[in-house]
Amino acid sequence: MTMTEPRVVVIGGGLMGIGVAQVFADAGHRVCILEPIDAVRATIGERIRANLQSMGKQPAAADRIDTSADLAQAVAGATYVTEAAPEKLELKRKIFAELVAKAPRGAILASNTSVIPIGRIAEGLATADRIVGTHWWNPAPLIPLVEVVQAAATSDATVAATMTLLASIGKKPAHVKKDLPGFVANRLQHALWREAIAMVEAGICDARTLDECVKHSFGLRLPVLGPLENADLVGLDLTLDIHQTIIPELDRHDRPNELLERYVAEGRLGFKTGEGFRTWTPEEMSALRNRLTNHLLQASREKLP
Ligand SMILES: NC(=O)c1ccc[n+]([C@@H]2O[C@H](COP(=O)([O-])OP(=O)(O)OC[C@H]3O[C@@H](n4cnc5c(N)ncnc54)[C@H](O)[C@@H]3O)[C@@H](O)[C@H]2O)c1
Repeated sequence: MTMTEPRVVVIGGGLMGIGVAQVFADAGHRVCILEPIDAVRATIGERIRANLQSMGKQPAAADRIDTSADLAQAVAGATYVTEAAPEKLELKRKIFAELVAKAPRGAILASNTSVIPIGRIAEGLATADRIVGTHWWNPAPLIPLVEVVQAAATSDATVAATMTLLASIGKKPAHVKKDLPGFVANRLQHALWREAIAMVEAGICDARTLDECVKHSFGLRLPVLGPLENADLVGLDLTLDIHQTIIPELDRHDRPNELLERYVAEGRLGFKTGEGFRTWTPEEMSALRNRLTNHLLQASREKLP
């Protein structure tokens, strides 16, 4: 594959930063990762090579990735900068102030924040028209969606150029027109989790049964049938009849469920402690992680429309 411009800069060489850098490099872009911690920076090449190999790809794409500890030097020739530093508002505001001052005026400045509104990161900064959210999912090389979040100040041209660039590297960009916490996909995901936790708390079923109900029913259809396609498929008249009965029954807590708060207070953190909604042996945890990676690898090879 030939090397193409623009020159992409990734701020932060952690889990997401190296995944995002890998996708750009694999598509032929020259990438520079800015990572301030020497020990982390030293492992970047090796981690990306291992990731590429585990996906059955040539590790040579890693040669298109440079690293730096100096922001001004890293962004000097950039046309596209993606920030993937820790999820702390003040840190991101500081980084974006520096990017606005030091990156070329024409460079797009994107943040991979999980939940912080882009408008808060860009507040008070000059040239906020070029600041945009790009919410990648983990693992970045295997999950196609990138939500492109347009804050009030983000220009249409910035959104269009970002969507075009992401599509050109094989991602599925989705334009999110309002800058709300959770964007689109996490709001949907956590609406489901809220109901799931509420049902376990109410004793309707146990955690294992709840997950089986999802995995062996509508979970199977989700890769090819989104919820609104599904509503169209079964008919909006039937959907309305169902909603008349079920919507008033769904959980409407406006804060995290007490069961979740209690488990966290008791130190039941899930895989981190071996116990969460369920109890996990090391073998079970590693088997589930492997099943997930294999499933995502297979889905990425099939390239769903
Ligand atoms: N982990 C996920 O599943 C996930 C998914 C989507 C989005 N995100 C978001 O992506 C961002 C990064 O998350 P992550 O999981 O990669 O975190 P991480 O902790 O793995 O990586 C962050 C990296 O940024 C570096 N860093 C610290 N200060 C910095 C600075 N001033 N300038 C540049 N780099 C700096 C750290 O040394 C670290 O290597 C966060 O905003 C997170 O919310 C994470």
